[in-house]
Amino acid sequence: MTCFYLIFILVSALLYQAFASEQVDLTKGFISLPLNRTYYHIQRPYDVPEAQRYSFIDGIHRCWVYSTDKPHTPTSKTKPRTEIAMHGYNYSSGVWQFEGYWYVPQGTSGFCIMQVFGASPPRATTLMLRVYNGSLTYYKGPVLVRDIYDKWFKLNVIHDVDAAKLKVYIDGDLKLEADGHGGTSHAFKCGVYAQDNDSYYMESRWKNIKVLRKCD
Ligand SMILES: *[C@@H]1O[C@H](CO)[C@@H](O)[C@H](O)[C@H]1NC(C)=O
Ligand SMILES: *[C@@H]1O[C@H](CO)[C@@H](O)[C@H](O)[C@H]1NC(C)=O
Ligand SMILES: *[C@@H]1O[C@H](CO)[C@@H](O)[C@H](O)[C@H]1NC(C)=O
Ligand SMILES: *[C@@H]1O[C@H](CO)[C@@H](O)[C@H](O)[C@H]1NC(C)=O
Repeated sequence: MTCFYLIFILVSALLYQAFASEQVDLTKGFISLPLNRTYYHIQRPYDVPEAQRYSFIDGIHRCWVYSTDKPHTPTSKTKPRTEIAMHGYNYSSGVWQFEGYWYVPQGTSGFCIMQVFGASPPRATTLMLRVYNGSLTYYKGPVLVRDIYDKWFKLNVIHDVDAAKLKVYIDGDLKLEADGHGGTSHAFKCGVYAQDNDSYYMESRWKNIKVLRKCD
């Protein structure tokens, strides 16, 4: 009797585990593409050396910027940024996915941490995930996650270009379904890009970044 009961518990646990891991494996059916500095570059204030705004130590990318910094090119009119731009993987069709773990330290606010670049003008972006006052938001709202400071979160963004649909998952939970905004070329970017009400210091950290494409 006891033995039967133990086997029952064991089988239930295994089934639960299989179900739970299936739930969070958002990358199933996707190919993870090679990602090294051949495929991305660091956009940073044009007048400072990269090492003063970006580091990559023990697998953690750290991007920071100050509200008083210059834009990323002398001719740009945009706010300051330090972003990892996946410009080796510009895409215009198919289903693409960005996966990564992110961390935002306390005391920073008013910036974008991840974007899907490219949209029909006058828009420049199809998706922005921003930090305002301790929350992660889709553009200025709605709020997707509260109380984010000093913690790691898993992010998956799936962009179905042909259907013009995006899905945003935090720690495996679907938090947002959004429409595409047109455009002929897209790329994933992550880091810090100042927005309205930006704090003097802005920082985000990233690890295990993957760019994936759905198998045909
Ligand atoms: C980046 O990855 C590609 C594909 O795996 C490889 O061919 C290339 O040599 C790598 N470049 C560097 C700088 O490691
Ligand atoms: C990808 O697009 C960006 C932004 O339009 C551009 O700066 C970059 O050169 C493109 N990369 C490639 C490899 O075409
Ligand atoms: C920011 O969040 C804190 C705590 O969540 C709250 O007390 C404060 O009023 C908020 N500030 C603004 C400007 O929303
Ligand atoms: C920025 O600050 C102003 C003034 O405090 C406030 O009215 C506005 O809602 C803030 N914007 C965001 C996106 O938090």
